[in-house]
Amino acid sequence: MSASARKLFVTTALPYANGPFHVGHIMEYIQADIWVRMQRMAGHEVHFVCADDAHGAPIMLKAEAEGVTPQQLVGQIAAGRPQYLNGFLISFDNWHSTDSEENTQLSQDIYLKLREAGFIDRKTIEQFFDPVKNMFLPDRYIKGECPKCGAKDQNGDNCEVCGAVYAPTELKNPVSALTGATPVIRESEHFFFRLSDPRCVEFLRNWTQDGRLQPQIANKAQEWLSSESGLADWDISRDAPYFGIPIPDAPGKYFYVWLDAPVGYLASFKNYCGKHGMDFAQFMADPKTEQIHFIGKDIVYFHCLFWPAMMHFAGQPYKVPDNVYVHGFITVSGEKMSKSRGTGISPLRYLDIGLNAEWLRYYIAAKLNANVEDLDFNPDDFVARINSDLVGKYVNIASRCAGFITKRFEGKLSADLPAEGQALLAALREAKPGVRDFYEAREFSKAMREVMALADRVNEYINAHAPWELAKQEGRELELHQVCSVALNAFRLLTTMLTPVMPRVAESVGKFLNCSFASWDDETPLSVINKYEHLMTRVDAKQMDALFDAPEAPKAAEPAKPANGKADPSKHAQQQAHVDKVVAADAESDFEPFISIDDFGKVDLRIAKIVGAEHVEGAAKLIKLLLDIGEERPRQVFAGIKSAYDPATLVGRLTVMVANLAPRKMKFGLSEGMVLAASDDKGEVPGLFILSPDSGAQPGMRVK
Ligand code: 2FM
Ligand code: ZN
Repeated sequence: MSASARKLFVTTALPYANGPFHVGHIMEYIQADIWVRMQRMAGHEVHFVCADDAHGAPIMLKAEAEGVTPQQLVGQIAAGRPQYLNGFLISFDNWHSTDSEENTQLSQDIYLKLREAGFIDRKTIEQFFDPVKNMFLPDRYIKGECPKCGAKDQNGDNCEVCGAVYAPTELKNPVSALTGATPVIRESEHFFFRLSDPRCVEFLRNWTQDGRLQPQIANKAQEWLSSESGLADWDISRDAPYFGIPIPDAPGKYFYVWLDAPVGYLASFKNYCGKHGMDFAQFMADPKTEQIHFIGKDIVYFHCLFWPAMMHFAGQPYKVPDNVYVHGFITVSGEKMSKSRGTGISPLRYLDIGLNAEWLRYYIAAKLNANVEDLDFNPDDFVARINSDLVGKYVNIASRCAGFITKRFEGKLSADLPAEGQALLAALREAKPGVRDFYEAREFSKAMREVMALADRVNEYINAHAPWELAKQEGRELELHQVCSVALNAFRLLTTMLTPVMPRVAESVGKFLNCSFASWDDETPLSVINKYEHLMTRVDAKQMDALFDAPEAPKAAEPAKPANGKADPSKHAQQQAHVDKVVAADAESDFEPFISIDDFGKVDLRIAKIVGAEHVEGAAKLIKLLLDIGEERPRQVFAGIKSAYDPATLVGRLTVMVANLAPRKMKFGLSEGMVLAASDDKGEVPGLFILSPDSGAQPGMRVK
């Protein structure tokens, strides 16, 4: 490493260990990975780490529901991570867990240092307690009527009908979403980090306003810092039972998951240092070290207020982050992703159906800038950009010229290049520092635009000299040799500039051109090339159809999801003392982990006797059923079970139907309900299985 080499410690936000990655995670990892790869190519020392965010109530409750320990659940989730990370070429140096020895030691040490410095308070607070489950209830597990407008079935902290924000104890007729019990108010002593301490406020004013943060983020922080009520102290403790790290000298108390989550950055790095013989404390204490976090816009409050303040007042060997790079969310064709609308993108499906990871890396790079803006994935735009930019402009250069060099010049490139070609190559070399600066500033879309503009110039050069024509004309070998050599040298320079985005293509090009793309500045002259192998195929627009689920017909049993899957940062500002980030943990998954008993009660499930069943002409999947549920006349229901059942075998059977689903007019007639059938979402067990009640059940009986 040269003396000017930077020492970088880079992280992405730690994903909750309660579910697989979604495309938002992959977008963030790709953004950070591109930046990190650029830094490595520039010769800097980079350590890029992440970990599972393992603690908290949702994970504890999910494990309980699945009959495993939280550690087992976290282990299962962790085992699924590599297929995504390898699949999308994400080059983390280490992956660890917040449920680890390092994190326990570091979190407790930081806490003790903060306590020593006078930043920890104890206060007795009132909280809802579920007497059946025997635990204090996080806000999201309390439902009730809005204290302002009376709307039923509202969350513990805000009303989706009138928008009111309140404390859970203000809800009318509260119920525990875990057991349906009426929660009782109990007192408990909690530990608070004194964010309101004037030392803290002063430090944060400087740290957030000294120009390091993106302007939108600095403005947001300024808003929070100058709000009339000031910064609220932060509740950092939770009572047992809780899956978390015990608070020293406080039996039965655990750190709130958001206290130990960012400490997990350090824990993962410390774990990495242990594996590589590095001194963690020394690295962190080195003034040259830069600590950088890539995060989404929903968790700014945690990363730009709590986290730097914790690090600053914990003192040595802890280090205040040098920067926090914030990105927006990913939308699909302008809308928030939704499984039921058929706009959800599953990263694994993307890979499974054979879409190229580097297409997505390029597409994301081509659309990302340094602002906190949402990035829209538009399938048509995706196809157009990949086919026109990557295949039509970039790959085309090599595929049009390589064959001549191999067949006519034994794979040897000409070292004697004409002035025009030299000027073109010089222009490309001169553009490199600017492209590098764009990468550094996370202005990836500008970098990609510049590279594609350079590729256009190279293609113009090739078109002007038409090597395919030269190849047919005797006596023009020298020209042919020179033009193709210029083109391939240019291709090498373009590949250098695309390597952070497309490392696998760069590896293949390295084999083809006999060169390395490990360093941004490596311009060792090319001499002999190998046979050109196809570098990248075009995207077939049909592949895009397979990427999305067909929109689901609404199912009565599925609770409606709030329109905003993620929390709005401004809301965090208003209620930070009560912010319970489990909300965001669950907003990640497409299904709410729990519905209230009232939600379930809305579904009218009935035993139904199949009194008629027949094929439907012109419908590939449907069987028309007549279902007797004790009403005057049987209900007509079109069920998508043709692949699994012969209508004749169904007549006379009892099954279960949703009787209060709104009637749906279909091409073949009115469908007046829905029969329930089981299927394996993963597709490992083929088939569909309708339900049968135990003997004795009668048509029309309610199932509850
Ligand atoms: O919002 C989330 O998904 C959190 N799991 C992010 C944690 S980032 C860091 F603090 F660990
Ligand atoms: Zn309301």
